[in-house]
Amino acid sequence: MQNLGMAITGSGSATPVASLDNQALCQLVETSDEWIVTRTGIRQRRLATGVESLSTIASQAGASALSMAGVTPGELDLIILATSTPDDLFGSASAIQAQLGATNAVAFDLTAACSGFVFGLVTAAQYIRTGVYRNVLLIGADILSRWVDWEDRRTCVLFGDGAGAVVLQASECDRLLGFELKSDGTQNHCLRLAYQAQPKPLVNGIEVGKGTYSPITMNGQEVYRFAVQRVPEVIDKALFRANLSVDQVNWLLLHQANQRILDAIAGRLNIPTHKVISNLARYGNTSAASIPLALDEAVRQGQIQPDDIIAASGFGAGLTWGAAIFQWGK
Ligand code: ACO
Repeated sequence: MQNLGMAITGSGSATPVASLDNQALCQLVETSDEWIVTRTGIRQRRLATGVESLSTIASQAGASALSMAGVTPGELDLIILATSTPDDLFGSASAIQAQLGATNAVAFDLTAACSGFVFGLVTAAQYIRTGVYRNVLLIGADILSRWVDWEDRRTCVLFGDGAGAVVLQASECDRLLGFELKSDGTQNHCLRLAYQAQPKPLVNGIEVGKGTYSPITMNGQEVYRFAVQRVPEVIDKALFRANLSVDQVNWLLLHQANQRILDAIAGRLNIPTHKVISNLARYGNTSAASIPLALDEAVRQGQIQPDDIIAASGFGAGLTWGAAIFQWGK
């Protein structure tokens, strides 16, 4: 009999060594530890140095998840890298495949900003549920420090770098209990890391657009309102699909954007604070990495136990948002 369910059997994470606290940030922009902590809950963030690559930290997180799951790289069928900051615009998943020695796996990048991990989880589940692949490595990793304007105090205090990963395996019992994914491109302007082209004449009047990506721009208040309104809706919908009530959720695992957003969403859902996983004080907003990084820490600290029901939700640029309700463990 084919196993057409999906189980989440391992997690791992990796962060750069360099740490920048709020006091140090005050030397860069006009801000204060008090402002950052009260408005965001963030105290420090890890930053990748010029020599640390996205594929290196992503591979470390992936190797750690494989080791917890007891899966060898050669057994992997698929690697999905959720990222908005690849080392190579053609994609970094193949470099990770090579670094891990996952010679049998097909590998590709998936871009959905801070929703990337949840979108990747649902994408991986489709391959497993159709019986196409049995062992999938899903990595969420971002180095947003490359694209932050370090002179813009409205954004540079928020972001950090990191990687988190999970191993997803075919199983008799399906641990992905429900999901809901959404996009709204009409709100794309709220949060962008956009390509800025200058015309470069070639020949015969033909010109191409040569340029680079401009730093992250964000309307913080719009993004805040969007998250607090839309995320509870998708979690409710995903719980409905899972035929579960909110009281049955053991852990609320949100994209770690801002402690006030986490508190407001938990409040709207009537989920008590002790069920809300939060590590953003130490890492800031690590985009696609934030959910698997927080998941891995909670698993390794013994907070999350096998069979626990987790309501995870990512939200961010696109705009994109989504929720997945899953049970931890084989
Ligand atoms: N230090 C000191 N003062 C600051 C700072 C700072 N770092 N940043 C802004 N301020 C000032 C502003 O200039 C403004 O001053 P003014 O009134 O004199 O103009 C004042 O503080 C208030 O600014 P607001 O933008 O209204 O501050 P707010 O309370 O909204 O907090 C924040 C800003 C933290 C960005 C909040 O809006 C937020 O968290 N939004 C959500 C952002 C988010 O989660 N983004 C990531 C999404 S995930 C992804 O896809 C990448």
